[in-house]
Order: sequence, then C-alpha cells, then structure tokens
Amino acid sequence: MARERPHRMSGLSRMAALALVALSACRAETRDAQPQGWDEEVAIPVAADINPDASIVEVELEARVASLELRPGTRTDVWTYNGGLPGPTLRARKGDTLIVHFVNHLPEPTTLHWHGMRVPAEMDGSLAMQRPIQPGESFDYILPLPDAGTFWYHPHFHSNAQVGNGLYGAIVVEDPSEPDLGDDLVLVLSDMSVREDGSLAPPDEDGWFGDYFGREGQLLLVNGRVRPRVRAREGVPQRWRIINAARSRYQRFSVPGQLLVRIAGDGGLIEHPQAMGEVLLAPGERAEVFLSPRAQDSGPVTVQWQNFDRFHLGSLRAPQDLLVFELTGDAPGAGPMSPPTPLRTIDALDTSGATAQRVELMEMVVDGQTVFAINGSNLPDENPLHARVGETNLWEVTNSTAYDHPFHLHGFFFQVLEVGGRAPTVREWKDTINVPAHQTLRFAVAYDDRPGMWMFHCHILDHAELGMMGSLMLMP
Ligand code: C2O
Ligand code: CU
Ligand code: CU
Repeated sequence: MARERPHRMSGLSRMAALALVALSACRAETRDAQPQGWDEEVAIPVAADINPDASIVEVELEARVASLELRPGTRTDVWTYNGGLPGPTLRARKGDTLIVHFVNHLPEPTTLHWHGMRVPAEMDGSLAMQRPIQPGESFDYILPLPDAGTFWYHPHFHSNAQVGNGLYGAIVVEDPSEPDLGDDLVLVLSDMSVREDGSLAPPDEDGWFGDYFGREGQLLLVNGRVRPRVRAREGVPQRWRIINAARSRYQRFSVPGQLLVRIAGDGGLIEHPQAMGEVLLAPGERAEVFLSPRAQDSGPVTVQWQNFDRFHLGSLRAPQDLLVFELTGDAPGAGPMSPPTPLRTIDALDTSGATAQRVELMEMVVDGQTVFAINGSNLPDENPLHARVGETNLWEVTNSTAYDHPFHLHGFFFQVLEVGGRAPTVREWKDTINVPAHQTLRFAVAYDDRPGMWMFHCHILDHAELGMMGSLMLMP
C-alpha cells in the first residue's frame, strides 16, 4: 500500500526547485489564504512519491476491492486503486517522468490507460498494445510528461464495468511557469449504481438496453462523496480541475451566484479565459475553471447536476445535488477577480497538405442485434485507419446516429476546426469532444514520433464496449 502524503516537491533540478519554493512562498504572501479546512470534505489523497530524484515521480498503485461507505449508513464493495474512490491523485510537473508500479488484486484482468496523456504506445494500456494484467500480476508503466494539464487514469479492459465499479483517478501535471490561477481543487465527478442496501448493481444490468443507452448510476459522487461541501472566501480564487469520470453520464452544472471562468480544457490552458454560465462535460472530458468567490447573502448554495438531453428525446430529468458551496465569514481577500489574458499562445496546426481521415459513428445489425460501430465494423481492430509519424491529418467524424456521442482519440491532442458547422471560439487542445446527433466534427491532428496502434472511441463506455471503437495504425 502506497504511503500517501499531501504535497511533494519534484520535477526540476534542486536549484530550480528552490526557486519554485520561493515563488510559491511569495504567491502565498501576495494572496490571501483559503479558509481553514476549505477542501477537507473533498480533498483526494495524493499518491506518495517514493523516489528522491526531483524529476521522477514514482508511485505504487494497487487495484483491489474495498468496502466503502458511499450511501450513508451502508457499505459498498467497490473496485479501487489503493483502497480509495477515486484512486489517489497523481501529481507531477511537466517534464518529470512518472513511474507507476501497478499490481492487480482484482478478481479479473485489467490495464491502466492514461487518458489524454501523450505516452508511448506500449504504455497506453489499450488491448491493441498490451496483454491484460492478470489477477496477481504486476506491470510498471513509465510515462514521460510532456504536457501540463488535468488528465485521468482508468482501465481499458471491460472499461464500462470497471470504471462503473469505481476505477478512476486524477492526474495533475503542473507547469511552474503558469500564472497564479487560484488554489487547486480536483473534482472527479462520477456516478454509481448503488442500491438502497449499499450493494452495487451488476455492471451488465438491463443487458443490451443498458449498453445501448449507456448506464447512469443514480448515486452522484464528487470525489467519491455524496454532496460534500467546498468552502471559500470572498476574493480568494480557486482553480477547479473538473474531470467527468462517469461511465456514461454527461455533467452539467453552474454555481448559483458565482461566475465560472474556464481557463483550461482537456490538454492544459486554453488561449483566452472564457466566462461560462455553466460547465458541461461529456464523459472523459475535463475543464479547469477559475472561481473568484463574490459575496452572496443567501448562505451556502447547492450546486446541482442538470439534465443534458443526449438522446434528443425531450427528456427532462430532475436536477440532483452535487456539492455545497459555502462562503465563510472570513474577511474578503484581495485576490484577482479574473484570470490574466491571454493564458497561453497556441499556434494553429498547419493543415496545408494534410491528408483526410473519415470516421462514421453508426449503428448496424450484427446477428439480429443492433450494435454501435465505426466505419461498418463493431470490432476495434478490423479496419484500422493508417497514418505516418510526422504527418498532419484532417479528421472528419460524422455521427449518423440519433444520439450524441463523445469522441475520444488516444495519445494525441487535436485542434477542433468545427463541430456541427460551428468553429470553436477559443483555441485549445482536445482529446475528447461531444459529437451531436447527425452532426460532423472536423479536427486537425499532427502525429509526433510515437508509432503504434491508437484507439479512438465513444467515451460513453457502454457504447465503446458495444462496438463504437476503432483504431489508428501509426507507422514509423
Ligand atoms: Cu478514457 Cu480509451 O479512454
Ligand atoms: Cu484515452
Ligand atoms: Cu456513444
């Protein structure tokens, strides 16, 4: 079992590290502190770094069943990393190497996938690149960290069932050269099918219908907790790193009385901050928001999950509580009310001479059963797309079904050119994006030197398992 401690110092030479200590110390001096215990109801433990080398973060992860109290007053046997739900947060700095000693003590095989991270293909954890890790077996993942941002880890074997059973954790890669954007708060949003008595519904509940619609657990969890409280102090900004780790559920919420300013997406900072009425995340997506609390007289506010009609059936599902946001009585801080702009410069990919890739997200009938498929196949490795290292591709992903599907590409960030005929309003790096029913997504991607087989799929994990998964063979 890994030792867990809340903070670590690594990622740079000793001297640079000292400079950083000085920098964060002066940040703390120039900006007021969060209220005492502001995140104690939500904070996720950080995996302990067992390597003294400042540029290597080395952690131990053990997948095992643990009994946790999710629904108050009951126990649930969930699948965990190191006994926690979510698993420990992996925290490192851009440029570090992350080494994960993984051991599988689950009753079935598994792998680890590093969602959004540009890892070598043989470390990606998909079944195209890795033999499943059997119960009792170990595997060492060695991951360079070229990008700062909020990422996450989860299995890529029976992923709908295993993620649904609780296997996911956050990865934060910091970039010390980023401006001060508030105090970090990782928020992993998920849901679980926990019955009244605390038992977990079977992962294949409702059979084909469950797969086809995508199973949403009725118990909403924020960092594995029901309706936890986040405390804040007026004028002292928080940086929420939000991950949608639900197997099928879209997450949509606002914070009543507060302004949310999006500062980062899947692959680190976006070019310019974007004020948002609400956060909407398809499964697998991330957003970082800057929240500089403003005074409100109504006391604690409840942040609620809001329905998103991914079926286009006019469904109106009732809001459900996610968390409680509470301003304390501390004297207001003098922190910035808005983040600096621009946050970052991102050059547009040069698409002159780029070759096209076409992907159709579709339904088809196989042996009398409707399944989801890509380009006429429900087998992930049947018709791989082909590309070459160094190439730039223009992907055109058409959703010919009547439902929305979040499209995810492994291993590479892309720049969205348009979704449903509309160009994005800010430039950013994405790895997962919703493709609305009957709409087309166009994006550009440049392949760096990591040949191998890379998966792409719908991140409604029940859909991926039902066949909406394909692969890209990247040749050297
Ligand atoms: Cu997070 Cu293949 O996925
Ligand atoms: Cu992924
Ligand atoms: Cu889907």
